[in-house]
Amino acid sequence: MSHAAVQSRTLATLMRAEAERFTVEHPRSVAMAGQAAKVWRGGVPMHWMGDWACPSPIFAAQGVGAQITDIDGKLYDDFCLGDTPSMFGHGDAAVASAVADQIKRGAGFMLPTASSVIVGRLLAERFGLPLWQTATTASDANRAAIRWARAVTQRPVILVFDGCYHGMVEDAFVVLKDGQPAMKPGLLGQVHDLTATTRVVPFNDVAALKAALAPGDVAAVLAEPVMTNCGMILPEPGFLDALSVLTQAAGTLLILDETHTLSSGPGGYARLHDLDPDILVIGKAIAGGVPAAVWGVTAELSDRMDAAQARIGPGQSGIGTTLSGNALAMAAMRAMLSEVMTDAAYATMQAGAERLVEGLQRVIDARKLPWSVVHVGARVELVFADPPPKNAAAMRKALDPDLVAALHLWLINRGVLIAPFHNMMLASPVTEDAAIDRLVEAVDGFAGALEGLAA
Ligand SMILES: Cc1ncc(COP(=O)(O)O)c(C=O)c1O
Repeated sequence: MSHAAVQSRTLATLMRAEAERFTVEHPRSVAMAGQAAKVWRGGVPMHWMGDWACPSPIFAAQGVGAQITDIDGKLYDDFCLGDTPSMFGHGDAAVASAVADQIKRGAGFMLPTASSVIVGRLLAERFGLPLWQTATTASDANRAAIRWARAVTQRPVILVFDGCYHGMVEDAFVVLKDGQPAMKPGLLGQVHDLTATTRVVPFNDVAALKAALAPGDVAAVLAEPVMTNCGMILPEPGFLDALSVLTQAAGTLLILDETHTLSSGPGGYARLHDLDPDILVIGKAIAGGVPAAVWGVTAELSDRMDAAQARIGPGQSGIGTTLSGNALAMAAMRAMLSEVMTDAAYATMQAGAERLVEGLQRVIDARKLPWSVVHVGARVELVFADPPPKNAAAMRKALDPDLVAALHLWLINRGVLIAPFHNMMLASPVTEDAAIDRLVEAVDGFAGALEGLAA
């Protein structure tokens, strides 16, 4: 029998046993899933909540620090942290008190509050861009950034990297299929050919980037400085500098989406690595789980935005939503920026991530697994390839969905949650070393079980 056939049989055996165990150990969640299926399409209020590897959703009861308890009373070490919104832990006292205090005084007025001035100042100081706007989600912030980039440059095309994800941003749903641009498989209800106005190139490919910018019709490159949504793909030395130089030379704006790479350090990846984006987008954790996102621009771009607005004339820009920048979001962001996202918190997160990387690497070395570990600050990814791939085409080959699902369900049954998409793990400032060690031990147990079953 081929290695692939043995692996497939092994994973199927393991999945059957683990699914049975899950069902026996989660009677309340399983029963509640039955009730939920009658009122929520797909059994969950948001379809991603059904994307975990377990046979039915886990219903959360509460989150405290970096742990979640479910309605069956099971306790989990949470390394998913809501896929980033709770990167600084659940139920933080400063955010809870700011939000509770604000909601008693009103959540939204369509008027700025005094806190908004403080938040703007804190954003400018921390991230280095002088002028900011809010959105309700990072998806919306990216959409606004793209619209402005097109308006300012009067160019139609957006450039993204193969394997990217920037939220519900239609323009970014283009991939490379056999080297050719194509709409992402599974894209629903899209009637426009996105490949007409979105160009896509492999990450870390300077020559392809240069060629794609050459026609001079690209309004903006929308990029994460480290790709975090197709496994994790680190930039090769010099790639981000080339991106900066090439976009500038082409008159193309650089939008850096730091929604995930905010894990890098107090000022995000760009500040840490001296990058100079024209627009910086941050969502998710910036308001500690309260829906909010922000995007900052340079003074020069802001002037160009004024000029574009004057050129277009009065009317509805079509950018903005009612809940954005409301008093509640501002209160949460103020608490996050001034009390939670501190240098000390980042130092603890970094130390936790390093402990996790070392632990996973020990398992890989001891068991001679063809895997690797990469991280960007507090964000850690276990990759089923060694060395870790440098672009999405190679990463897709490494991301065996059966292996991912088996690992995730194994971890869930041992009280560990990692993000349901690929193998992302976040170390928060309140993640305890013992929890990190339990995760490493569980991954070791998984690898051991695979070896045992394959023998
Ligand atoms: C890099 C990046 N940008 C933007 C988003 C969109 O965030 P949201 O779903 O909160 O709109 C995501 C979501 O995963 C993301 O990973």
